[in-house]
Formats: sequence, C-alpha cells, structure tokens
Amino acid sequence: MAPALVEMPTNGDKVSLAELTQDYDDTLRFYLNGTKVELDSIDPEITLLEYLRGIGLTGTKLGCAEGGCGACTVVISQLNPTTGKIYHASVNACLAPLVSVDGKHVITVEGIGNSQRPHPAQQRIALASGSQCGFCTPGIVMSLYALLRNYEEPSEHDVEEAFDGNLCRCTGYRPILDAAQSFNKACGKSLANGGSGCCMENGGSCGGSNGTGDANAVYSADEKKFKTPDFIHYDKSTELIYPPGLHKYQFRPVAFGNKRKKWYRPVTVQQLLEIKNAFPQAKLIGGSTETQIEIRFKAMSYNASVYVGDIAELRQYKMEPEYAEIGGNVALTDLEKICDEAVEHYGDAKAQPFKAIKKAIRYFAGRQIRNVGTPAGNLATASPISDLNPVFVSTNCTLIAKSLGKTIELPMNTFFKSYRVTSLPENAIIAAIRVPVAAEKGEYVRTYKQAKRKDDDIAIVNACLSVKLDDQNVVQAANLVYGGMAPITILAKNASNFLVGKSFPEQDTLEGVMNALEQDFNLPFGVPGGMATFRKTLALSFFYKFFNDVLVNIAAGEKILDREAIPELERGISKGKKDHDASIGYSQKILGKANPHMAALKQCTGEAQYTDDIPVQKNELYGSLVLSTKAHAKLLKVDASPALDMPGVAAWIDRHDVASPQANWWGAPVCDEVFFAEDEVFTAGQPIGMVLADTPQRALAGARAVRVTYEELPAIFTIEEAVEKQSFFNHYRYIHKGDVEKAFAECDHVFQGTARMGGQEHFYLETNAAIAIPKPEDGELEIWSSTQNPTETQAYVAQVTGVANNKIVSKVKRLGGGFGGKETRSIQLACIVATAANKTRRPVRCMLNRDEDIMTSGQRHPFLGVWKIGVNKDGKIQALKASVFNNGGWSQDLSAAVVDRGLSHIDGVYNIPNVDVEGRICKTNTVSNSAFRGFGGPQGMFIAETYMSEVADRLGMPVEKLREINMYKSGEETHFHQELEDWHVPLMWKQVKSEFNYDEKRAEVEKFNAEHKWQKKGLALIPTKFGISFTALFLNQAGALIHIYHDGSILVAHGGTEMGQGLHTKICMIVAEALQVPLSEVHISETATNTVANTSSTAASASSDLNGYAAYNACVQLNERLKPYREKFGPDATMKQLAHAAYFDRVNLSANGFYKTPEIGYIWGPNPPDPSKENTGKMFFYFTQGVAAAEVLIDSLTGDWTPLRTDIKMDVGRSINPAIDYGQIEGAYVQGQGLFTTEESLWHRASGQIFTRGPGAYKIPGFRDIPQEFNVSLLKDVEWKNLRTIQRSRGVGEPPLFMGSVVFFAIRDALKYVRMQWGNDEIVCLRSPATPERIRIECAADPILKRGHVEPKEGEKSFFIHI
Ligand SMILES: Cc1cc2nc3c(=O)[nH]c(=O)nc-3n(C[C@H](O)[C@H](O)[C@H](O)COP(=O)(O)OP(=O)(O)OC[C@H]3O[C@@H](n4cnc5c(N)ncnc54)[C@H](O)[C@@H]3O)c2cc1C
Ligand code: FES
Ligand code: FES
Repeated sequence: MAPALVEMPTNGDKVSLAELTQDYDDTLRFYLNGTKVELDSIDPEITLLEYLRGIGLTGTKLGCAEGGCGACTVVISQLNPTTGKIYHASVNACLAPLVSVDGKHVITVEGIGNSQRPHPAQQRIALASGSQCGFCTPGIVMSLYALLRNYEEPSEHDVEEAFDGNLCRCTGYRPILDAAQSFNKACGKSLANGGSGCCMENGGSCGGSNGTGDANAVYSADEKKFKTPDFIHYDKSTELIYPPGLHKYQFRPVAFGNKRKKWYRPVTVQQLLEIKNAFPQAKLIGGSTETQIEIRFKAMSYNASVYVGDIAELRQYKMEPEYAEIGGNVALTDLEKICDEAVEHYGDAKAQPFKAIKKAIRYFAGRQIRNVGTPAGNLATASPISDLNPVFVSTNCTLIAKSLGKTIELPMNTFFKSYRVTSLPENAIIAAIRVPVAAEKGEYVRTYKQAKRKDDDIAIVNACLSVKLDDQNVVQAANLVYGGMAPITILAKNASNFLVGKSFPEQDTLEGVMNALEQDFNLPFGVPGGMATFRKTLALSFFYKFFNDVLVNIAAGEKILDREAIPELERGISKGKKDHDASIGYSQKILGKANPHMAALKQCTGEAQYTDDIPVQKNELYGSLVLSTKAHAKLLKVDASPALDMPGVAAWIDRHDVASPQANWWGAPVCDEVFFAEDEVFTAGQPIGMVLADTPQRALAGARAVRVTYEELPAIFTIEEAVEKQSFFNHYRYIHKGDVEKAFAECDHVFQGTARMGGQEHFYLETNAAIAIPKPEDGELEIWSSTQNPTETQAYVAQVTGVANNKIVSKVKRLGGGFGGKETRSIQLACIVATAANKTRRPVRCMLNRDEDIMTSGQRHPFLGVWKIGVNKDGKIQALKASVFNNGGWSQDLSAAVVDRGLSHIDGVYNIPNVDVEGRICKTNTVSNSAFRGFGGPQGMFIAETYMSEVADRLGMPVEKLREINMYKSGEETHFHQELEDWHVPLMWKQVKSEFNYDEKRAEVEKFNAEHKWQKKGLALIPTKFGISFTALFLNQAGALIHIYHDGSILVAHGGTEMGQGLHTKICMIVAEALQVPLSEVHISETATNTVANTSSTAASASSDLNGYAAYNACVQLNERLKPYREKFGPDATMKQLAHAAYFDRVNLSANGFYKTPEIGYIWGPNPPDPSKENTGKMFFYFTQGVAAAEVLIDSLTGDWTPLRTDIKMDVGRSINPAIDYGQIEGAYVQGQGLFTTEESLWHRASGQIFTRGPGAYKIPGFRDIPQEFNVSLLKDVEWKNLRTIQRSRGVGEPPLFMGSVVFFAIRDALKYVRMQWGNDEIVCLRSPATPERIRIECAADPILKRGHVEPKEGEKSFFIHI
C-alpha cells in the first residue's frame, strides 16, 4: 500500500495528491540480471546507477553523471508500448530514475558474463585490445550487447553507429570497432560465426572497402588484425531470456517517497491529469535526460516527480491522411522508426517533415539518450538549441495539450515565449504532436546542424528551413526557423517575410534573403554563447545550402545554381590496418609478442576494481568539496553552520584541520599552493573546505549550503594579459646555440610570427577518487587513490596528518586513465580526504564529480610562441629566436618542467645552426595547469611546425620540401647539443610518404580542390622526435620487489601504476621472460609504498624503461640463486620444482631490483652553478620517433571537417608488446587529434569560472571522429645499436600524441586552397584547436563570411575567454 506521504499543498477544495494516490502501489518490481527484485523501501533521490553501485554491482561506472560519456550504460529490456516488441534499450544509468525500471529487465555488465565465462562481446573487445584503462569498457560492452540483442544481424553500418553515446579516452576506438565489426552481418564469414574467416581474421579490417567482408582483396594476409582470434562463437540462443514474468506484467500506478521527495508513476493519461490537477507543480519526467542534469548540476529539486514513461497512451502514434499524431513521450529511437514508416506511408515528398525529424534525430545525443529521451521533453525544455523544435516550428506542427477535462491545441509557431518559457499551461501536459504532411509538390523542408563534434553534441546553430512554392515557383509560404541564434527557437521573420511572394529561383531573391537574415540575426560581438561571427555566418550558409538544394529541384538549369553548396560531409565505414609482423624479427618466447592487456577481460566484465569500487568501509563518511566560485577574491567569511545543521552531515573540515599551518602548503618543485584556501582564493575551483556526511547526496547538499562571502579582486586569465601585466612565476630558462643575431643579419629572409595553442582537459574517464582509512594505532593511515604518484601522495598525507612517512601506506590498484593529470593534482584530493579521516577518525571517501574534477585538477598548458626565423632562399633555415610562454594557472605545479620541455622540442626535427629560445610561465587566475601526455613537447613541436608552415608559405615552397631540406641527419646535434643516435625519422618520412602515396595524393587533392568550390581537401606530413627521460634527474630511478612463492607463483611489485597503458602487462612479460616461466604465473596485485618505496611518478613515457629494468635486475638476482636448481633439474624444470627445492634449502626467493638511467643530466641556462657547463650534458636518454601523414576534407561553408585517412609509423625500438604499443599509438594519436581540433577549454568571462566542465561542453573525439582510414605501423628491419633500454624498446606513451597535429596541418593546407579560391593570398595563421568556428573564420574571404562578420564595439568583449 501507499506509504504515508507528507501532504502536498492543496489547491482549494480539490482532492489532495495524497488522497488521490493513496491506493497506488509502493513497491517497485523488476528483474536484475535475470533475478526478480522487489523494492518496497526505496530512496527516492537515487538514480539507477547509484542503486546498482550501492548493491555492489560496481561494474557500471560513473564517468560524468550527465549522460555524456556512456560509462554507466546498462541495458533495460522492456516490452515497448510504441512498437509492441521487446526492445533492449541501452540506457545511461546515471540519468535513469529508479522508478523507470519497474516492470522491466535491467541487465548490467556483470549479468552477461564474467572472466571465467565471458560474453562474446566482452571477450572480443578484450582480445582485440579494445580496453586499456577499462573505465569506459563496461559501458561500451553494454552498447555492443544492446546492438546484438536488438538486431538479428547488425550491418557494418549499424555497428559503426552503435557507440555514438560512448566515449573512450585511451584506445582511439579502432580496436573496439574492429572487435565489434566481427559481429556484423557482412561478416558472415567470421570463424566465430561459423564461416571460413572474416576479413579481420584474415588480415583486413571489417568494414573493408567492398562491404562484402572479403577484404582479402584489399589487405594482404600478413597484415593480420588478430593473430589468434580464438573468438567465442556468438550464439544468440544462450542470451538471458526476457523474464516470462514480465510478458504479462501489469503496470500499476506507483507512489513512494519520503519527506523531501515523492515519486508518482501513473499508467494512464487520466491518472496523470488527475495528479497535475491536484498539484500542478508536480514535475513530469519522461526520459529524465534533461531533468536529472538540472537536479545534479543546477541544484534543482522537485519534491513531486511524476514518471510518465510508462503511460502507453503517450507512446502511441497514428497516421492520418493530412497529418501524423505522435505521442508526446515516444522515445526518440521510436520516433526515428515512426519517421521511416511515415516515408513509406506518405511517400518521399509528403513525408519531408518526417525526413527532417529523422535527420535531426540522427545527430541528436547518443543512442542511450535517444532510447529514453522524448519529443515532449525536448519541447517542454524549450532549449534555444533544441534539435527538434526548429523542425516542429518550421513544419507548422501543433501540440495537443491536455489538462483534466480539457484538450487544447497549441500551434508551434507561438509556443516559445521567452528563454525556456512556453505557452503550455502549468496544469497541462503535452499529449501529442501533430505533424502535418507536406504538399505533394512545391514544398521543400530541410534541416541543418553544426556542432563542435558531429556525434552527440548540441548544436552551435541548427535550422529547419521550409518553403512552399506555386507552379511558377513563387513562394507562397516560408518558415526559416533557427536554433542557437536567440534565447528561443526563432523564426527569421524578415527573411521569411521577404521570401513570400518572390520568385524563388532568382539571384535577387537570394540576395534579399541574405540581407534580411543579416537583420534578423544582427548578433552583438559579446552575445551570450559567444561565436557571433560564426553563428551569423552559419545562419547565412545554411540558407545558401537550402536555396541551392531547392533550386536543384525546381530549376536545375539555372545559372545561379551552385550545386557544390548542397552536399554535407558524410563519413563512410571506417577501417584500418596494422603491421602485426613488425616484431617477428626480434620477438622471443614472451617479449615482442602481442599479448592483450592482462586485465582486459576483467575490465570487460566489470570485475576490475577502481578506487571507488572498493566496498564501503564500516562507519565511512563521504566528502564533498566546497570550491571557490570566484577567480580571485578575499575570503571574508566561510560559514559552514547551515550545512552542519543538515541531516546526515557529520563534519566540516578546512585549513584549521591540517597538522600545522605549514602542513597546508604543498607543490613540487615549488611549494606555493595550499590544500585549503586561507584568506584569499586565486582561482574559481580552489578548495575551501569539505563537508562530510553519511551519503554522497547529503554531503553534496551540505556543500551547497555552506555560505562563502568574498571580496572580489582583479583577475588575469590569458597568456596575453599576463605578458602585458608581466605576471610571471619565478622561472626563466633559455637555450642558446650559435649566434642568432649574426645569422639574421646574413640570411636572405627573416620572418616573424606567433604560434598559439589552447590547453586540453585530461578527461580521463575515472575522475579523481580517494579513500582514507585511519588505523587505530600510531597515527597510521591507509590511503587508496587514483594517483600516478603514490610516493608523493604518501609524503603529503604524512604531512597533513602530522606523522612520518612510515605510518602512511599509499596504494593504487589501477587508474581509469591518468595521462599526466593524476601525476600531482591527485594529491590535493587525497590529502583533503586524509585530513578529514584524521580529524574524524573515520574512513572518508570522495570521488569528484566530473565538473569538480575539471574545476580543480588543471589541464594541459596553453602556449604562446613568438618566433623569428632567418632563412636562405634555398630554404635552409639559419636561425630561430623564440619567446615561449605557457599559462601556468594560479600555482606553479609542474609548469617549469613543461615550459622547459617546450624549449627542448622547439626544433621539431630540424637542424637550425643558430638558436636562441627562452621560456616563462604566466601566473594567472585559472586552474593550475599540469602534466599532460607530452608535457610541453607537443606544444614545442607545434611552434616548430607552425613556423615551418608559415615560412614555407612565405617562400612559396611546399612545406614538405622545407621540412626535408632542414631535417636532422643521423649524428647531428640538437640545439641542446645532443647527438641523434639511431635516427630514423628520414627513413620513416620516406616510407610513410610512399605508403601513403603522398605525391599522387597531392595531385588528386589539387584536382579535387579545383573542381569543388566549398569542399576542400588538405594534406600534411608531420614528423616527430620526443625525448625520453624525466627532466628532473633524480626522478630517473625505479625499484621492484619480486617474490617467488614455493608453489612457483610469482608476485611482482614495482613503482609504476597501471592506468591503462599496459605497464603491468609489460613488466609481467619482462619478468616471465627473464625467469623463464609462462606469463600466467606472474602476477601484479597493486602499487603500494610499503612494497616499493621512494618511487617516481608513472610518467614521462619512461615507466617501462625504469620499472622494467628494475624488475629485470631483481630477476637477475633470483636467476643467480636458482642457477644450481636449474642445473640440477634440467632445462624443463618448472618454477614450482625450482622454488620448492630452493625454499627447503633456505634460499631467499625474494629480490629487490633497482635501476637508474645512466649518462643523463643536462645543465640549463641561465646561471648554472658552473657557467662553463651551461648547455652541456645529455638531456634525454634517447628519442622516440615517428612520422604521420593525413588527408582531411573540410566544408568551408560550415567549418565542418572529417579526417579521411591517417597513416602513422613509429619507431618504438624492439617492442616489448606490439599490441600494447599499437594501442598507445592509436590512443595518443586520437587524443592529439582532439587537442588540435575539437577540444577547446573556455572560461566564462562574467563569472571567471571554467565553462567547459563536462562532456556536454567539452568535446573529446568520439567513435565517429577517428580517421576513416587509420593505418599504423612500427618501424622494422633496422638496428638500434645505441639503444640501451630493456629489450632495446623505446617509450611510447607520449610520443605519438603530437602525430595528432597532422590533421591540424592538413586542415591548414585545405584552408590555403579555400583562400586561393577567393583570391586571398594572406598567410594562414591558424590557432589551435582548429574548431569548426576557426576553420570557417579562417576561410577569410568568401562573400558569406564577409556578410557574417561581427565587429566588436568599442570595449566590447567576447562572452568566453580562451586562456
Ligand atoms: C548527453 C545529452 C545530450 C543531449 N543532446 C541533445 C541534442 O543533441 N539535441 C537536443 O535537442 N537535446 C539534447 N539533449 C537534451 C534532452 O535529451 C532532450 O531535450 C530530450 O528530448 C528531453 O527528453 P526527456 O524525455 O528526457 O525529458 P525530461 O528530462 O524527462 O523532461 C524535460 C522537461 O520536459 C517536461 N516533460 C516531459 N514530458 C512531458 C509531457 N508529456 N508534457 C509536458 N512536459 C513534459 C519535464 O517536466 C521537463 O520539464 C541532450 C541531453 C543530454 C543529457
Ligand atoms: S556517467 Fe552516465 S553517461 Fe557518463
Ligand atoms: S579504455 Fe576507454 S577510457 Fe580508458
């Protein structure tokens, strides 16, 4: 029966909500992984994800809580009321209210298999190296699982699109797609599916060019994707059945809740209307994809929520001759199908509105959102950038709204009143949308959308443009409706009115509409949302596309027709290949073999444990941070008392709770940062304190209640402002070689320019997390955290808790990605949590929300390089002078080493005889920027390739030629006097150029560009050399501890952390090879400071070199001790025999190995202790090298672009494990591609806060952003004579990242053709990232852009700041 609900306010003499719902059921009944569940005591405030993780099903991960990453994907099987069929919906558990699972079957990653009996989807992703850190993997597995359950035989296209709601930051997606494509129907040949061998198994890539799956024609058999697929046969009949109990499940009205919140789940429209009548403020929840975001991030609370997703009447549709009526809460996935049916039903012309809806849905969010999100939700939200609303308005739809006893029709063209305000009465619901069919003849409807990223991104501008023409092509009606141009979805009134009565196919009509659109959208430069010029230009460009699209239908012969404007960029099925035989020449028993990541299967099944998966400790508290909301301010008052009065809140901690005032200070190498703010805050997002409570929800509510009073102070954000105000940290370095001024005086040309690039959010899928467990004795404390740096964590936890290091054990099981972002920044949270645990003497846990993580943890440094190049006529560069600045943010952190590395990589791969470069760190009021894969190297090389590109353009020389002329030769010295040994860049340059057919492609590109007005292709060939070693000498050391137990099993501990890069796998391989045992006998459990002490952070791509050698050195000792037993028992003796015998002989079977990198130690200027040694000494142990080629296609009307093909070749020496190395290369490349294209961090000028704080606003590449053809190979058939690393392998983690810039330079190349088209010969100075906005604006000269240009008024500033 219904629980005793607290009475809602009554409405006069109407029946109250409690009375109305007193007979409602209060129990949720559903199936979870095949088992029946009944819940009659339910926390109404938790999501499905919180429920699942709370009962120990921690395979489902929390990555963002905003539906943007897919880490939380589960499958909900249900009898779909729209289609009447069972549908297995992939769903974001982070958004789904628990009430939405009643009567359904919830399937989680644990439900489909485990590492003993994996599901084929799990096993194939694991075997194909589709899982690195594994944090995204359960969600990806579940998306694939949903696809397999829903499709009898998915096509390769279905597979390619199945992951548009999932993100992965590690793999670069290619291996996941390859694994998934092994299930496609084109692949009837797969061994797993009973065939003779699919293209992947035989060497190619699924999705091969001919679509038959027989890619053998394309790829030779020696380029095998998976040497031994061993795929488990996929047999649908073994899948979890749809529980018979659910077939006839009677959906009953449900009501449950507590004092703060109640849920109602009516099952008829009548019940819903009664509820709305009794309590009009009751919040309707459809898919919850909008409302849960409001609850989580905007602190909205709805004390009466009504779930309408199970009201069958709202999910029906009917097709009448003149219109289709579609239930307001059909799922968007079903709406897609309804649109297909409408096309069948009405025919192409009349079904144009449905085609427009379908197209709008295609790029609407990801599949998980579309599976639950609804048109009514989209309409009622009234977002100005809604994708559906422009279509509904443009096609003259009508809403059917209902309140108790009343049905009203609301025409869409008057529905939106003002920002997020509609004409829907408060007590009414959207019951249906009536979509009129188009005329058989003379009516044209088209939609457009441009976003930062193609898939799963909200629009910058979208539009649905429609016209009705009479037989003479005179416009009878026009609805040019835009999103993203105003606070509401808006009709371009002037333009639409202008059109009516005009003959459509006339130049004057086009001109007139363009003029009118300029008036309609006269955006100010500082318009909210920014991008004034781009948005205005897009509005014009969309109409231009539309105009020509209509024209081609009505007057294809007209002179004014510009066919080139019509097509949009479409991607084909992606493919790729790898050279899997690269290591044959040197592979040993284990080393050099392509072993999948050892934890991959556990990651695919959800068994792999991350910090927040550690079970809740007895008496545990949860912490929620209180962060500064001001960029720079005095802290006048911090009042935690409102929080302390709240239920469940146990304590408040701040700077007074650390062991001493000095203990609040931290930072390496400069101690200039506080754990808790003191009297002043220096950035928005700086921790002030933490609220501790018994649940995460209560802790968050408590944190929101803390009152902080500020007095604002001036703030600096950008590098340019800092340079102007001379706001620098106390760090200055330079490298001098030769005589730059003399060279400038003597050379033929001197050119100057700037290279500017933005930073990059790490966006590891697992946010920072820590659990501190105080021990009863001696101040001991155990700290689990997601850190790359357990030792520094240990040291600072000891500091804040006031004990010696030997009382603190810092532990890491694995990280869900780090990329440098958890090298130092993770220490902040660990120490705050440890302080809390120390104060309360209770275990304390905190996993940051995605927005908190982004606000507190710093990013890759933005860089500015001001360069001057002296060059001779023949292209030989004579001198480089550069001032380099990075944006350090509010504290120094690792900024010094980052800018230093920028200086050491500013030569790219070019021999410049005279160099004078200097570096400084800008002190600003942004987050403290930190290490990120590449650590200043990519920024330095970006400056190099920028000056190369601009110098080549100024000389009128192909940039490839300039690169070749200046490229280092073997044995030459860098500007810091390091000789280049084992130098293979020139060789790889030649190989990639030839394998890519670069010269032929150049001819093809020239031809294509000459024939296409708006779409242009571009090419680039980019080399890299990346120095391996920590620049701080003392960090180049490592330790390992190996135990051989007397059963022969081996436990390894070393100083490195596993964060997806496969370090543990490589170390186990090194140990297995050295001790001559099967890989399966070697195990690494965790990284901990009580097994291996004084470790360096896992960073600088040196961890395999360092820890691998340390482990090897331990093996050498053990082998020495086992030697007599090997002699005694012979070569075939097992480790069990050896260890057993040695143990009984009292032989020590534990060994500690140590390694330090020899030779290195560079002396920087200025002012070294011995000035004569300045600019001497070896900076890097060696250089990892590579070359990449790319071809891109851009649409110069919209700024849209797609990477057509990328080839990468890397010299990683003798690979320890090619499967892992390929994974690193692909993953780093895609991360680099993101850095240089889609990923743009923005600060909100008015508040001084970072705006891009989640996947909704910050766009890392998705599955459909990777190169359509992506080929990767390792350099082979060469010798590495001077490489003295373990196995002669080279570090690979960071070096390939810069290869991602190849698309940036290919885009730049395409832009040159665009400018040529319009007669503009200005040099392209493209700032990174090359977002669609920058691409469009750098087109520079076309007439539409000129119309769209918005000049700032005097003193007017942009809405966002690029730091
Ligand atoms: C990751 C992500 C990506 C997204 N991408 C896009 C995108 O690309 N394009 C886009 O346009 N939107 C996007 N959205 C926004 C959102 O998904 C859509 O607006 C969706 O249509 C909302 O539907 P819903 O049923 O989930 O709404 P809910 O969150 O359930 O409800 C939203 C609002 O609608 C009201 N409502 C629901 N049903 C009714 C009804 N029958 N009658 C009256 N009011 C009702 C609710 O009370 C609430 O105010 C995205 C959201 C997320 C989280
Ligand atoms: S955690 Fe749900 S989508 Fe990211
Ligand atoms: S493996 Fe995908 S995020 Fe790490």
